[in-house]
Amino acid sequence: MKASIGFSLLILLSLLLSSCGMNMYDQPKANLYAAAPYVKDKVVGTARPLPEGVVSRERGAVDPTFYTALTPEGLATDLPIPVTMEVLERGQERYNIYCSPCHNFNGNGLGMIVQKGMPQPASFHDPRLRASPVGYYYNAMTNGFGRMFSYASRIPPEDRWAIAAYIKALQLSQNASLSDVPESLRDSLEVQGASR
Ligand code: HEC
Repeated sequence: MKASIGFSLLILLSLLLSSCGMNMYDQPKANLYAAAPYVKDKVVGTARPLPEGVVSRERGAVDPTFYTALTPEGLATDLPIPVTMEVLERGQERYNIYCSPCHNFNGNGLGMIVQKGMPQPASFHDPRLRASPVGYYYNAMTNGFGRMFSYASRIPPEDRWAIAAYIKALQLSQNASLSDVPESLRDSLEVQGASR
């Protein structure tokens, strides 16, 4: 019985509170695409055209390679952003979310969705893909590849570069030898079944 009184009070309270905030909703404001009577020229919408000569300060406007991965010599072989540990970690996180379901965490193309019937993509450790420039990966995400849809609407350019950088690191990680590791760090590695 006590519980049902409490419950009724809760309903009453939520009904009372639900009318809060309407004042802010109803305040005078310009809605997008509404007529703008205060504008004198022919364009009467609230969404105003940019004044003449305005230049976007977004990175891609001054650096097309950043958006397209294209250079006059073909697909970019270098990243247009500095490669830091932070970028690689962001790339790993985004790769695990967006790509691993099909390409697998290690990039061999046997992700869970493929195990459930999606066509199997080539392994990122295939010699052809190991030789592909970093721009190749950015381009596949941006424009899609065969049966793989484009990720342009879901992954912003910065993250596409971070993922592309991570894939190159993933390829190196699966094909590295001890001599690739700085000498000072070699002792911290356990080399199974091998003597140096
Ligand atoms: C839903 C499954 C799926 C997801 C998720 C996915 N891919 Fe793919 N990907 C594929 C398939 C399938 C192919 C092969 C398509 C074909 O050959 O028609 C492919 C092909 C590719 C290729 C070209 C490989 C080649 O053979 O040259 C690249 C590069 C690639 N994907 C990168 C990515 C990246 C990076 C992500 C994450 C942002 C991603 N893919 C997410 C399924 C997926």
